[in-house]
Amino acid sequence: MTATTTRPRTGRDDPLRRALALLALSPRTLALSVLLGVLALGSAVALAAVSAWLIARASQMPPVLQLSIATVAVRAFGIGRGVFRYAERLTSHDLALRGMAHLRETLYAQLAAGRTESLVGLRRGDLLARVGADVDAVGDVVVRGLLPAAVAAVLGLGTVLAIGAFLPAAGFSLAVCLVVAGVVAPLLAARAARRSEELAAESRADMTATALTVLDDPGQLTVSGQLAGQLDLLRDADRRLAAATDTGARPAAVSAALGTLAVGGAVVAALVLGIPAVGRGALTPVELAVVVLTPLAAFEATSLLPAAAVQVLRSRLAAARVMALLDSVDDGTTVRAVRPAFPRDTEEAVRPAGDTLAHVPDVTADDGAASAGPHGLVARDLACGWPGRPAVVSGLDLTVRPGRSVAVVGPSGTGKTTVLLTLAGLLPPHDGSLTLDGVPTASLRSEQVARSVVLTAEDAHVFETTVLENLRVANGATTADEARAALRRAGLGAWLDALPEGVQTVLGPDALTVSGGERRRLLLARALVSPAEILLVDEPAEHLDTETADALVRDLLSGSFRGEPTARTAAAESSRGVVVVTHRLTPLDTADEVIVITDGMVRARGTHAELLHRDSGYRDSLWRENQGSAASS
Ligand SMILES: Nc1ncnc2c1ncn2[C@@H]1O[C@H](COP(=O)(O)OP(=O)(O)OP(=O)(O)O)[C@@H](O)[C@H]1O
Ligand SMILES: [Mg+2]
Repeated sequence: MTATTTRPRTGRDDPLRRALALLALSPRTLALSVLLGVLALGSAVALAAVSAWLIARASQMPPVLQLSIATVAVRAFGIGRGVFRYAERLTSHDLALRGMAHLRETLYAQLAAGRTESLVGLRRGDLLARVGADVDAVGDVVVRGLLPAAVAAVLGLGTVLAIGAFLPAAGFSLAVCLVVAGVVAPLLAARAARRSEELAAESRADMTATALTVLDDPGQLTVSGQLAGQLDLLRDADRRLAAATDTGARPAAVSAALGTLAVGGAVVAALVLGIPAVGRGALTPVELAVVVLTPLAAFEATSLLPAAAVQVLRSRLAAARVMALLDSVDDGTTVRAVRPAFPRDTEEAVRPAGDTLAHVPDVTADDGAASAGPHGLVARDLACGWPGRPAVVSGLDLTVRPGRSVAVVGPSGTGKTTVLLTLAGLLPPHDGSLTLDGVPTASLRSEQVARSVVLTAEDAHVFETTVLENLRVANGATTADEARAALRRAGLGAWLDALPEGVQTVLGPDALTVSGGERRRLLLARALVSPAEILLVDEPAEHLDTETADALVRDLLSGSFRGEPTARTAAAESSRGVVVVTHRLTPLDTADEVIVITDGMVRARGTHAELLHRDSGYRDSLWRENQGSAASS
């Protein structure tokens, strides 16, 4: 079996039900929460009943001893109500928070493992809203939706039966009023909320996305004069959000009125039915007080239900967005191809450093051998581009395997970054083939590719945490010594020495406290600590002076990094394959192959020396570069 579909992708399934399944709620804790909730509100109902009895009986001035048990019961129910409520809150919140953590974990894992092209069209703020507020909204349904409904149902039934035991007709009228307050009013509230929530969700997503844009790049937006426009968009989204909320206000008010009306109705009905019953002798005057006053407490449970219905609706909309996100990245996880085990999969350390090179078949000689498969990342006649747009670069042949270095050069906008994103499996190939150890990358999950291929993207995120934790993004096991070694190899030795707390120094929000060049090299250091054996590096030397830049690229391409690598990183290093995108030709003498891309095609390829010998364009570019360097120095 080479491909399996683990879960049908249906639009029929209720997204809330599917999302709830992903919360993996413990049935025992759920049952305990309901029980505690029933005990808490049950105490309130019992308190009302006993109080009514006590007041009514006391008016008859019986011997005080007859009242003492009721007095103790009042106290017990009063205290019990608070204690049970507290315990119920603890249990139900623990349940919901664990569920949210589980759902979020599933979501992150799927996002990391799934197909990334589906996310290309999603705005960053929108993605953030889905993994943030939407997951919270799904979790909220437990505490604010399901539990109140379950508690109200149990309690309502119990109270109706208890009152019915005294006077069946009063029990029936109470049941009718509870249905009005607990079913009709919530349905009305939910309907009112549906329209406004649909409108609000869109405005809220717009608001989050715009707010993030403004917060991310306030400087650039100010300079380009777009800040005012973005702020207007933000205000507009806020206005639409307020209008959407207002839309649902009137029906919500009717629903609230209905709830209050039902309480009054129940009391009046109990009086109307109870007084004649007292006359008939079917009910004692003290029991009449109980029958009339007890239902008041029962409505405490139903009063939460309109809000619960709105919460269910809100959670269902949020669940639909979360599940849509999961479904969109799911394709890559449902199709699994059998893939020859990468040596690291079994035991990272068993492969001797030099061994890899000795056993690598010459891919250029035989890259089609289906049995063994070529080692490393192999592109054949590859066309790279963005989804829904024409290919930016086509006809690319490229082989990178451990121990081999390739430099890609070309004018700005020619598609070098696009090529790297495609090689990293982050963009689907437009055409041609791309294989990792002989297996098409399209049939691998992103995390499988990421285990072997690491990309230092230009816009990778630098987190507001320590330097060490920023490197651990690529490898959680990185020690402080390994981090220091990687930073020095990335040319950040002096920067590191100047940091007040070394690798434990906390970087500012979104790396605002590091310069553009430092940021690039920090990302390079992050790639260096990664255990992946193929490194794709995009313009590592940008923002650096030419001398430092050339030294860095040379080091990367030759693998002779500066510093004192630890035993583990040294082993990984010597067997690494590297693709470096750069715009300077001078340091390319250390590359095993240089690929020149112009106008979407490979214009020339070979070693630096070969290209200098036979390609006049390459020679001219290098000459101009040297002139430029000479002039600037
Ligand atoms: N997110 C994107 N969506 C759609 N098209 C894009 C996207 N990013 C880049 N492109 C397009 O792809 C083409 C190649 O861009 P790319 O960034 O790969 O060039 P580059 O060679 O890396 O340029 P530079 O040297 O300036 O970094 C450009 O025409 C660009 O407009
Ligand atoms: Mg680029």
